[in-house]
Amino acid sequence: MKRPFAYIAGIGRYSPARVLRNADFAELGLDTNDEWIVQRTGIRERHIAAPGENNRQMSAAASKVAMERAGVHAGELDIIVLGTATPDRLLPATAVELQAELGANRAAAFDIMAACSSWLYGLIVAESLMQSGSAETALVVGTEKLSSIVDWNDRSTAVLFGDGAGAVVLKRSRQGKGILSTYFRSDGTLAELLYRPSGGAAHPFDEQVLTDRSSFIKMEGREVFKHAVRSMSEACDRALDGAKLTGQDIDLLIPHQANIRIIEATAKHANVSMEKVFVNVDRYGNTSSASIVMALEEAIACGRVHEGSTVMLVAFGAGFTWASLIIRF
Ligand code: ACO
Repeated sequence: MKRPFAYIAGIGRYSPARVLRNADFAELGLDTNDEWIVQRTGIRERHIAAPGENNRQMSAAASKVAMERAGVHAGELDIIVLGTATPDRLLPATAVELQAELGANRAAAFDIMAACSSWLYGLIVAESLMQSGSAETALVVGTEKLSSIVDWNDRSTAVLFGDGAGAVVLKRSRQGKGILSTYFRSDGTLAELLYRPSGGAAHPFDEQVLTDRSSFIKMEGREVFKHAVRSMSEACDRALDGAKLTGQDIDLLIPHQANIRIIEATAKHANVSMEKVFVNVDRYGNTSSASIVMALEEAIACGRVHEGSTVMLVAFGAGFTWASLIIRF
């Protein structure tokens, strides 16, 4: 069967109400400042979930909007694919929590854990299941409460991340619109450049973990930066090749929103001018799995994507993982 066979029928987004500005870190006792953060990352503020707020609620809020826009009710969903690096519980998957919240009782629901690439991985898996005939209608979600795994004493990571959720409903393609090409890869030899050393089965929680704070995110920022640019550049090339397009054919590039300098370097490599790049990292920080879907929702809402637009999405995350996808709207 020839592509496209899956298109985005509806999209939704949720951001928690609380906004944490760069200047607010001083009140939290962190030795940082607005100038350093903006210069190095482009981030000015991020949304932070309330203490009782979780991924089940955030992803349900985003999903309900996506389903309403797609004209799809919960009983029509065949699969729920949910990307997150911050599951509400380690068992069971957050996708089944969402399924219960939505009342999507016909769906098979499962999580994908590919860090910031999870939502693109989710789209690729969902599209394949639709192609194979296993599903007609899919809900693909990215949701994160990164504030729960960030070390608020570590200025090199605490300033980077935010919380939020986004969701799309994928349906069978009509009239040539939908996913034109996909690409995804990973390299587990680099896992320890960005990871949580403890808290899983290899090193379960104990007093030591609490003392050395090793259940929180640890990152080698400079190394991650280099690999992110290299991998996202490669992913753009592969997606363009797959769709038989060049950077000139792309109406909008939406890269993972981690850092403005990574975004600029990726766009330059792909030969896409910055006017054609969507950026909201300044207002949300890095929301990992939720980043691209939240940005896509905003881009559509503010008229940057319309009928016939060709959009390239590209991600990079812990693992390392990277992925790209071109969609015609
Ligand atoms: N405020 C003030 N100073 C800081 C801060 C801060 N928030 N954080 C670090 N510094 C200091 C360091 O301590 C260091 O000081 P020193 O020279 O006295 O030792 C100095 O700033 C330089 O630190 P570097 O880490 O070398 O700074 P760099 O220029 O590399 O910028 C950054 C750090 C912004 C993290 C950068 O490396 C980066 O963006 N890397 C990519 C990170 C990323 O995007 N990760 C997520 C992508 S993958 C995913 O989304 C899961």
